[in-house]
Formats: sequence, C-alpha cells, structure tokens
Amino acid sequence: MTDPVAADWYRLADTAVLLDGFHALKHALRFGAEVPVAVTTDRQTALALAADLAPDVRDTLDALLTEVPEATYRTFVPRPHPTAVAALAVRPARAANLEKIAHTPRSTPVVVLDNPRNLGNAGAVIRLAAGFGATGVVTTGTLDPWHPTVVRAGAGLHYATAVERLTVEELPPGPVFALDPEGDDIRGLKLPDDAVLAFGSERTGLSPELRARTDHLVSLPMRPQVSSYNLATSVAMTLYHWSTAAPR
Ligand SMILES: C[S@@+](CC[C@H](N)C(=O)[O-])C[C@H]1O[C@@H](n2cnc3c(N)ncnc32)[C@H](O)[C@@H]1O
Repeated sequence: MTDPVAADWYRLADTAVLLDGFHALKHALRFGAEVPVAVTTDRQTALALAADLAPDVRDTLDALLTEVPEATYRTFVPRPHPTAVAALAVRPARAANLEKIAHTPRSTPVVVLDNPRNLGNAGAVIRLAAGFGATGVVTTGTLDPWHPTVVRAGAGLHYATAVERLTVEELPPGPVFALDPEGDDIRGLKLPDDAVLAFGSERTGLSPELRARTDHLVSLPMRPQVSSYNLATSVAMTLYHWSTAAPR
C-alpha cells in the first residue's frame, strides 16, 4: 500500500511548487504560501534547525512536517538537499499576481528580466526583489520563472513578491528605466518608486522590443575594457541605488 504522504506528494507534484530545502520552506511559510505537504528524513533535526534559525515558523513546521524514510524522500526530489527537507506549495494564481504587478499607484519598482537564459540568475534576482520589497519580477521570453531550479535559487522567496512571465507589450505602466552600458550614469539619476527596471538577456542584452518601450537608458559605473556585469549583480546595484533615495 502507498504511504498516504507519498500519495499526496505524487498527486500534487505536477501542479505544485517544489520547495527544496529548509530555507525555501521557511521563506515560503513566512510570506503566506499554502503548503499542503512537507517532509523530512529527520524531524528532530529539522525542528532544532527551526528553533535555532527560524523560531517564528517552528510551531508551523512542527504541525506540518512528516518524517519519511530516506528512500521515499529521494523519490520526491531531483537531488537531496543538505537539510533533507522538501515541501510542495500552491502556486499563486496568475490573475492575482498580474493585479499586484499592474496596480497603481505603485510604491516600489517592478523588475523586468528581458529574455533571461540562466535559471540561477533568475532565482537570484527574485531573492533580491524580495529583499528590497520590489512589487514584482516579470520575465519575458521562454524561461519559466517558476521552474524548480529558479525557486531553489530564489530560496522560496517567490512568495514575497509577484513573479510572472509577460510579453513586452503586456508590461505594467510606469516609466521604463532600462539598464545598458551605453546609458546615462545611474549615479546622476533618482529612480522613481514606480519605475519599471528592465535588464537584458545574459547573451544579447536588451531586445529591440524592450528598447522601443524604454524611457531612460541607464548605465552602471564600469571601468573601460570590462564588457558587462552579471545580470543578477546588475539588478542588485540598481535596486540598491533605488533604495538609497526611497523613503524608509
Ligand atoms: C551580462 S549583461 C548582457 C551582456 C550582453 N552580451 C550584451 O550584449 O549586452 C546582462 C544585462 O545586465 C545589465 N548590465 C550589465 N552590465 C551593465 C552596465 N555596466 N550598465 C548597465 N547595465 C548593465 C544589462 O541590462 C545587460 O543587458
């Protein structure tokens, strides 16, 4: 007979979001994710970790975590996580996310990744957007911003912002500040709270469609002969620059 937790897992796995590891589950719970199933190979260790690092969610985890044999856990995840914790969460409705992204007036920027290629970069950007309280992260192109590798790199922080894929034509209202080494130096600019901050693809930079929507082309200081920065570090510098002028 199939273990009831395994039955739940297999029933939900195709449509739910995989939270791989203790920290992804912790973050998702903190930001209101609905988590129908969570497992660990060692409840005692997982709850001790919670008591130590995340006492705010310790009781929730106590009620939620089911201990499963190592062999069962290994069938749930592509590769075991060092914390041996995994969970499935309900993906937020697209309509609700789109409403958040399009809502005006907006008090924090929306980050746009124009046709990103690297799943780790996309996750790192979502983590940054969560940390800076950005309204949302929009991707254009084919990459799925809810891919399990993106969620893993984002440490479960998709639940702390609104993450969706859109076309350039569907981008939310607001002045578009697109980042490109040919733009005006960011140090002379104040980025408004309702800015749409757009970043180009790792391979080809900003697309012609995104450039056509751009109101201001902005550059990050960079010494001659260096071609460009990594996408996620560019987002980090830009959000930091916005935050230094934003009200606290
Ligand atoms: C790895 S870079 C893209 C490099 C690409 N080969 C190109 O032709 O632009 C990814 C994105 O990071 C941002 N970026 C990187 N360095 C930048 C800089 N010095 N100033 C402004 N944006 C930068 C841009 O949005 C860029 O499209």
